[in-house]
Amino acid sequence: MNIILNFAISADGKIGTKQKNASKFTSQKDLERLWAIRMRADALMVGRGTLEADHMSMTIPEHCHPDRQPLRLIISRQGQFDLSHKVFHTPHGGAIHLLGTEQSPSAELEGVTTHHQSLASFLTHCEQQLGIQTLLCEGGGELVRSLAELGVISEINLTIAGHTLIGGAEAPGILGNVMSHLPASQHFVISHFEPLETGECFLTYQRVH
Ligand SMILES: NC(=O)c1ccc[n+]([C@@H]2O[C@H](COP(=O)([O-])OP(=O)(O)OC[C@H]3O[C@@H](n4cnc5c(N)ncnc54)[C@H](OP(=O)(O)O)[C@@H]3O)[C@@H](O)[C@H]2O)c1
Repeated sequence: MNIILNFAISADGKIGTKQKNASKFTSQKDLERLWAIRMRADALMVGRGTLEADHMSMTIPEHCHPDRQPLRLIISRQGQFDLSHKVFHTPHGGAIHLLGTEQSPSAELEGVTTHHQSLASFLTHCEQQLGIQTLLCEGGGELVRSLAELGVISEINLTIAGHTLIGGAEAPGILGNVMSHLPASQHFVISHFEPLETGECFLTYQRVH
C-alpha cells in the first residue's frame, strides 16, 4: 500500500500553533492541490486531533467531479469520538472507519465501522480487507510520527508557506514535537518543485529504499 502525506508548513517548519488551532495559513491554490491529491486516494486518514481542530468533513467537493469519494479513516487511542462532529453528518463522503488502538470505539452509526487493534495491524487490514492501495494521511504530527516509526511513508507532499512564520518551541512540525527526532534518518528524494507567486512552494518527495 502506498501511504502518502500532505502538509502545509510554515517557513520555520511548523504545521500549526502550540494551541493546535485550525491550520488555515495557505492559499486557495493550496486547497485545490489538496483536492487533487485526495482524488488519487482510495482512503483519507487523520488523527482525532486534526479532525476536530480543522473541522474536517474529509470529502472531495462535487465541483471537482470525483469518480468516487475516498474512505474516511479516523485514528484514536481512547476511541472517544464526538458524534455531533460534521464528518458524521456529511452523507456524500466515503464510508467511515474509526480505529481505537487502546480502547474500542463506541460509535453505533449507520455507515460507520469500528476497529480495535494496533495501528500497524489496521494498516494491514486496510490493504488486505478494504482494498486500499493509496492512503492519504493528512496529519496530524502525532499520527505521522507513528507512521514514520513504522517506516511506511512512501511520499510526502509539502506546501512550504514562505509568507508565514509561526514560531514557538512547542508548535509542532510534521512529525509532531520538533525536538523529538526519529532514531534513524529515512531517505526521500525530491520529485516535484513548484514555486508559486503566492509566496508558497509545492514540493513532493518519494521514499528511496
Ligand atoms: N498544516 C497542516 O498541513 C496540518 C495538517 C494536519 C494537522 N495540522 C494541525 O495539527 C494540529 C493537530 O495536532 P495533533 O497532534 O492533535 O494531531 P493528531 O495526530 O491528528 O491527533 C492526535 C490524536 O490522534 C490520535 N492518535 C495520534 N497518533 C495515534 C496513534 N499512533 N495511535 C492511535 N491514536 C493516535 C490520538 O487520539 P485520542 O486522543 O482520541 O486517543 C491523539 O490524541 C492542529 O493544529 C492541526 O491544525 C496541520
